[in-house]
Amino acid sequence: MTGDRLERLADELLLIIRQKPRTPFTHKLLARRLKTGRDEIDAAMKLLAGWDYRLTLSNRRGISFITAPDYLTSTEIGYRLKTARIGKSIHAFKSVKSTNDLAALMAEGGAPEGTVVTAEEQTRGRGRLGRNWHSPAGTGIYVSIILRPKFKPERAPGLSIVTALALADVLNSYCPEDVQIKWPNDLLIRGRKVAGILTELSAERDRISHVIVGVGINVNQGVGNFPDELRQSASSLRRVLKRKINRVELLQRFLLRLEKEYAAYRSHGLKKAHARVKKLSSLLGNKVTVKTGTKRLTGRAVDIDKDGRLVLETDDGRIAITAGEVTVVKG
Ligand code: BTN
Repeated sequence: MTGDRLERLADELLLIIRQKPRTPFTHKLLARRLKTGRDEIDAAMKLLAGWDYRLTLSNRRGISFITAPDYLTSTEIGYRLKTARIGKSIHAFKSVKSTNDLAALMAEGGAPEGTVVTAEEQTRGRGRLGRNWHSPAGTGIYVSIILRPKFKPERAPGLSIVTALALADVLNSYCPEDVQIKWPNDLLIRGRKVAGILTELSAERDRISHVIVGVGINVNQGVGNFPDELRQSASSLRRVLKRKINRVELLQRFLLRLEKEYAAYRSHGLKKAHARVKKLSSLLGNKVTVKTGTKRLTGRAVDIDKDGRLVLETDDGRIAITAGEVTVVKG
């Protein structure tokens, strides 16, 4: 049997046995359902074990599924994923330079809306403002989603906020009350950055060709996984919760939530999300400095308006800002 066919058989075998974990399926039954022989089933089982699925084999009773590995593979991410569009096509890689770069290439090649690109590791993960996104193997979630909204390019920045909101809701389900959004799109838990969003737009005149929504989440990084310069300002879910988190499950929850928020944004803009965005904001009420290009503005953050702009009360009156880097002024 060729490698490809064996892989397909392993996937089909997995689909059957994981329906009833810890329940043995006899070789006879599996051979009949998969229209193949006993030796092929054993080979497929070996392959699954090599992919770190935990299975048990008893010659008399058959094969049972015990647990799946927490690897970001398309099989695992797609398994029982309840979305309608996002994640119908998943490309999962071991190591890439940047999932955003790869997703952009795929989008240019015609990949459909909702295509998801993930990697276990990024060697050149990109953050906002030309920074790097530290992306060590096997610990975080690095994911990019291709969207093709029909609205005008001016509305694209709102997608970052929508994504931040979806992510905040999901992170809140792990750490209730502790999650905040640092405008425009950093996710903080107890004041430390746990996730970031890099939204990149490709548009022609007044039509969006695609938007790549890139999300990096620090999930199972331990203290030693952070470079010195990030150790104080960044954290991970594991550091906060003192336990490992299943990345596949977290990613699935996020994709589902994102699909809902995205649909709401397409129909109503930020109208419905606005109050939640304000409630989750880490900045409102604080004196802040915002760097936008070459300009620097200081004032009190008083609002996030219905278009997702940060509103500052400055000595020259109220100013609404679309993008920038914010620091809270202490004292
Ligand atoms: C930031 O906070 O500066 C944004 C970080 C965004 C990182 C993610 S990881 C997946 C995707 N691919 C990238 O190269 N960057 C984004």
